[in-house]
Amino acid sequence: FETGSLSGKTVVITAGPTREAVDPVRYISNHSSGKMGYALAQAAIDAGAKTILISGPTGLPVPDRVQHIPVISADDMYRESLVHAVDCQLFIAAAAVADYRPAVLAEQKIKKGADDEMVIRLVKNPDIVAAVAALPQGQRPFTVGFAAESECLLQHARGKLERKNLDLIIANDIVAEGIGFNSDDNAVTVIDKSGELALDKQSKSGIARQLIALLAKKLPASGTN
Ligand code: PMT
Repeated sequence: FETGSLSGKTVVITAGPTREAVDPVRYISNHSSGKMGYALAQAAIDAGAKTILISGPTGLPVPDRVQHIPVISADDMYRESLVHAVDCQLFIAAAAVADYRPAVLAEQKIKKGADDEMVIRLVKNPDIVAAVAALPQGQRPFTVGFAAESECLLQHARGKLERKNLDLIIANDIVAEGIGFNSDDNAVTVIDKSGELALDKQSKSGIARQLIALLAKKLPASGTN
């Protein structure tokens, strides 16, 4: 990890969960704590980057000197990500974005009815990292995703790398004990067209520092996004 290896660069990181409102008091979400994304933001700052953290609701303190953009829903995160992605050189999607949201947002609190079942119809959210990767040349940053998988980790991660047209993906096993969602440690495999690299279990800040060092080397030397 070289101090200053990202100086002059702007890095945008998405982090944490999104919340998809069902009614004024309820939402659909997931167990992301934001720890991985916030650790990446700290490492990017330490490497000298201007760092923008677009974060869903977390209880975490924002690292000093990081520009923090709080969001709630996937739609909010999508909008803010596209505003900032066009002016950055590196975009890292560490957020656990809800793939679906309720089709209808009830204006009033939904009352318990007589039925034992209730159905909430969901519609697909926009794919943020895929939209960033689809930006035209000159606006498109080096685009990095995570793949949180509970089975066939590397195979599914490679599929996402291709389908979303990413430059690199970080495969994250979310069933192994003590890593992944909401833990302090992580273990990941970095995958791009040049191959695969496993980073062994360690603190999320250790993983983040290794990832930022590696990404700094992979960024195009200069020029356009
Ligand atoms: O937050 P922590 O508790 O520290 O946990 C870390 C983590 C497990 C959340 C993180 O390391 C991680 O794996 N983040 C990605 C979680 C995820 O939602 O993965 P996915 O396989 O569903 O999505 C693949 C990629 O597409 C991700 O980069 C995701 O940010 C992105 N995506 C997904 C859906 C969507 N609508 N828009 C997106 O940009």
